[in-house]
Amino acid sequence: MRYLTAGESHGPQLTTILEGVPAGLELTTEDINFELARRQKGHGRGRRMQIEKDQVQIASGVRHGKTLGSPIALVVENNDWKHWTKIMGIEPITDEEAEDIKRKITRPRPGHADLNGAIKYGHRDMRNVLERSSARETTVRVAAGAVAKKFLSTLGIQVAGHVLEIGGVRAKDATYSTLEELKTKTEESSVRCLDEEAGIQMMNAIDEAKKNGDSIGGVVEVIVEGVPAGVGSYVHYDRKLDSKIAAAVMSINAFKGVEFGIGFDAARIPGSKVHDEIIWDKENGYKRRTNNLGGFEGGMTNGMPIVVRGVMKPIPTLYKPLKSVDIETKEVFEASIERSDSCAVPAASVVAEAVVAWEVANAIIEQFGQDRIDSIKENVEKMREYSRDF
Ligand SMILES: Cc1cc2nc3c(=O)[nH]c(=O)nc-3n(C[C@H](O)[C@H](O)[C@H](O)COP(=O)(O)O)c2cc1C
Repeated sequence: MRYLTAGESHGPQLTTILEGVPAGLELTTEDINFELARRQKGHGRGRRMQIEKDQVQIASGVRHGKTLGSPIALVVENNDWKHWTKIMGIEPITDEEAEDIKRKITRPRPGHADLNGAIKYGHRDMRNVLERSSARETTVRVAAGAVAKKFLSTLGIQVAGHVLEIGGVRAKDATYSTLEELKTKTEESSVRCLDEEAGIQMMNAIDEAKKNGDSIGGVVEVIVEGVPAGVGSYVHYDRKLDSKIAAAVMSINAFKGVEFGIGFDAARIPGSKVHDEIIWDKENGYKRRTNNLGGFEGGMTNGMPIVVRGVMKPIPTLYKPLKSVDIETKEVFEASIERSDSCAVPAASVVAEAVVAWEVANAIIEQFGQDRIDSIKENVEKMREYSRDF
């Protein structure tokens, strides 16, 4: 499967076309809208998310509630577009009209794509960069991920995400007995954190950052349960599923690092305490006593839950801006301000779920069949049985 996205932050709409989704998958707008609403929530989000009430239109590829196997086009309109029709207009304008619009951006924000993007594409108005580099684009990545999640759930594979850390406040108790429990509890938290006490401190940290015109980042975790062993491959660098998932997480705006299982801690612990002992019983087949490696050995799933974490840096747009340089005059100025969140870590955890779900779904389709959901389901079930008694 693959998908492209198109659309600017204040343009008319965001669009994605999903290619290769198998036929026969039950899919409704509700499945997608549910995930879009989850992305919009979270303590620390700015005014923009109050303006937008994201709703998807399925423009192709689905008939009577089931996918057809043809490309699926998903469209999410920007409510804010009506206020930006002049600034973001498609038709040519004169220099005078351009002057009138007065939303030209010439003072790049440190940490954002503004300056590099302007140099690369030759834009003197950095709005031409920020409109696309904005994380508004993640709306349709979440829409694509919602389709992947629906596909995975049909195969008995569940995806969940939560927030482990915001602005230096860490969840102390991030234990859960089932993924359902994790989902229910984190859905009730405004910061998607399992640890209620830490959640309150996170919200305070966000409020404090906002009051100071500052921003804070954090760490999110995604868990995928029910993937059979042997998905991905060790035989070639570009077939390793952990590396594909890592790339997908890194591609989320503002993400600066990825780890699986105990991740970077593995550098500080001997092998005898890192590697997960192998056990077997008739009912469950092969398992690992622990899951320090986060469900991967040799670029392949080992049947344990996939556990992947990503670190998000603080948001670059600051209401008390850092120093920058005006590209027209080369004078020192404060960076420009664009309506912004003070912390988007809770929303980013929903985006992370979506991109991980897409990679896992894609790997399953590559391995177990591409055209029909029923035959894929059968093949996955056969693989589960085969590996249990292997
Ligand atoms: C869900 C989400 C919301 C974001 N909201 C904002 C925002 O309101 N303002 C901002 O400056 N950056 C925001 N970002 C981060 C920027 O999009 C990102 O830092 C920028 O595109 C530069 O890319 P890089 O940080 O990956 O290098 C957000 C990121 C995510 C994942």
